[in-house]
Amino acid sequence: MTVATEFTLRRLSDVAGAEITGVDLSQPLTPPLGGAINDAFLAHRILVFRDQRLSAEQQHALTLSFGEIEGNVRRLPSGERLPVVHTVHNLDEHGQPTAAPDAVGNYSWHTDKSYHAEPSLLTMLHALELPPDGGDTQFANTAAAYAALAEETKRAIAGLRVVHSWEASRRHLGVVPPEEETRERPPVVHPLVRTHPDTGEKSLYLGNHASHVDGLPEAEGSALLDRLLAHATEPRFVYSHRWRAGDLVIWDNRCLLHRAVSNYDMGRHRRVLQRTVVKGTAPF
Ligand code: SIN
Repeated sequence: MTVATEFTLRRLSDVAGAEITGVDLSQPLTPPLGGAINDAFLAHRILVFRDQRLSAEQQHALTLSFGEIEGNVRRLPSGERLPVVHTVHNLDEHGQPTAAPDAVGNYSWHTDKSYHAEPSLLTMLHALELPPDGGDTQFANTAAAYAALAEETKRAIAGLRVVHSWEASRRHLGVVPPEEETRERPPVVHPLVRTHPDTGEKSLYLGNHASHVDGLPEAEGSALLDRLLAHATEPRFVYSHRWRAGDLVIWDNRCLLHRAVSNYDMGRHRRVLQRTVVKGTAPF
């Protein structure tokens, strides 16, 4: 018996990312195929699977093959918690495209759920509806950004710890989070330089949920975080993904920042992606 572990892989950029064709993710992954995909994931950080068509149930099952599926703190306007398989979109409460979507935080650089004590390992986004042009997602390779820092800077930031806060990041966007969300997700502290648990690589761990540097005066800490974020998101570290119908993308939140880009007519065209997240482990 032959077991299908073969797929075609093509690098998408020098920074990160590989395209995979020849796999049907709506079918259960065999252990050898899952292992081969995991190896490619660790090597390329972002995998773009073309030509997929997954229902919410199928994406739920696929997500579980990478680990424990992560719940969400954010509540919908109805008061219900955002479901584990949910959509990110630019639609208003009447289902019409809007230039001021609810998920406004997705448009700034972040790494998913860094306000959790055990933040996300990977995120999976599957394109359901796309604008005719644009609507990209950008990824910044924070391991390459760390490696490119001057040795003096590496020494200066070694051992610094950063407070990540859901409440602070919502307030920063002008949103007052419901009390139950703030209670459920109190601020957490993570190292500014984290070590990848599978590859041992070091990367910068920051983004829009990073509220301040523990133990530094606020202005000094903010200036440092701003400077490092500007460095990490320089074009030389960034891969911009232009979505195609049928794309399913997974990315490694432990060594990447990402953001949605409003490079399309948001008030006119629909952009809907089905999203799930796999829980990670405490950064060290
Ligand atoms: C996200 O931040 O998880 C979603 C990014 C996007 O909509 O491109």
